[in-house]
Amino acid sequence: MNGTPPLRSALVTGATGWLGGYLCAELARRTLAVVYALVRANSHTTAHQRLTDRLRLLGLANQVGERVIAVPGDLLRPRFGLPAHDHDALAETVDAIFHSAASVNLAAPYEDAAQINIGGVRTVVELAERRTELTGHPPRLHHISTLGAIGGLRTEADERTPAASHTAATGVAYARTKAVAEQEVLAAQARGTPVTILRPGLITADYTTGHTWESDLLVPLLRASVAVGHYPDPAGHVPADTIDTVAAATVALARRPAITAQTFHLARPAPLAITTALAALCRAGYPLSPMPRDAWQRLVDDRADDPAVLPMAALHEAGRYLLASDPAHVIPPIRCDRTWTALAEAGITPPPLDDAYFDRVAAALISDQLLPPAPGAQPTGRQPCPASTR
Ligand SMILES: NC(=O)c1ccc[n+]([C@@H]2O[C@H](COP(=O)([O-])OP(=O)(O)OC[C@H]3O[C@@H](n4cnc5c(N)ncnc54)[C@H](OP(=O)(O)O)[C@@H]3O)[C@@H](O)[C@H]2O)c1
Repeated sequence: MNGTPPLRSALVTGATGWLGGYLCAELARRTLAVVYALVRANSHTTAHQRLTDRLRLLGLANQVGERVIAVPGDLLRPRFGLPAHDHDALAETVDAIFHSAASVNLAAPYEDAAQINIGGVRTVVELAERRTELTGHPPRLHHISTLGAIGGLRTEADERTPAASHTAATGVAYARTKAVAEQEVLAAQARGTPVTILRPGLITADYTTGHTWESDLLVPLLRASVAVGHYPDPAGHVPADTIDTVAAATVALARRPAITAQTFHLARPAPLAITTALAALCRAGYPLSPMPRDAWQRLVDDRADDPAVLPMAALHEAGRYLLASDPAHVIPPIRCDRTWTALAEAGITPPPLDDAYFDRVAAALISDQLLPPAPGAQPTGRQPCPASTR
């Protein structure tokens, strides 16, 4: 693509996770690269099995050991905990690194999240710089960040907006650790490793199947709404895109020629109206009624002993952005023009996140038993469904 040498081999971290699994699949399907997948495990056998289990969900179990090779390793240990010669062999082999591993626990204290979100970046940079030492050729480092790294802004932001001190204004420690992680990779860039920073917004279910994952923030909101019989009204607008588009965009952008310190925003140009997702619950047949968002949040907090409600209650501060609870939790416009220009050049123009998409998401949540069976569609006109606006 664009005269860029083809990717021959890549390391993916976080391969057993949501995005990391999709990145392995996307690299295996769209490139000729051999993919090395870092998996937390204390043996090759266990790493291979964990990766196989993950990629089976994406129809790629038969590629494990062929195009996708499990590497047992822990980002919290120097050299991933690998013997020095194995670490050197990996460093010499991989010409690109996709660093997706992280703690995405939005309620974790700063010190806990920092261990992997900042410490893990340092371990990845150690590998990148070792490759440069050994071969004279730095790998390209594609770092998965988050739009939360520029959270706390009160004005419009774009891809040039640095992750900086305004992130300290958010009470979400995860976001602050991801901002510091961006600074770590930029420091590596200054020392000679070409870096791409990819900032997804809210990542939602697969566009085609509707299937999602435990780190999809819409899941706690939808489950809690069904469990308490009410949905928050009004709710917020959040930059978002589907997991398959985020993975496809990451790989497409990685195949472009290296340009110094590129940052991309992996979210649709228009933010997702949370009511669009909530409306699918009503269409699925749940008898929900609207409730002012503050009252809804109090109800959720009161009902936190219900396992279907607890994940939403546990989001605390982060959940307030989903509801746009007060002016401090309204996400300002986040521009993605540079990203979508580049993606259009790469032929990526995804279909809209419309009602049919959220109907697939609701159906998948039911079939995956993340939602109880719906009691049935209500007669027209009786059900106070939120207008699905985008
Ligand atoms: N989910 C979202 O909505 C969202 C939005 C914006 C940005 N992001 C970013 O996207 C990336 C991927 O998120 P995700 O939703 O895919 O997360 P996820 O499903 O929770 O996956 C996290 C991955 O990191 C791995 N990991 C954690 N600690 C590790 C360690 N010490 N050593 C090696 N691997 C370790 C996990 O391995 P185990 O399986 O062993 O635990 C897992 O494979 C993250 O960088 C996140 O900040 C996510």
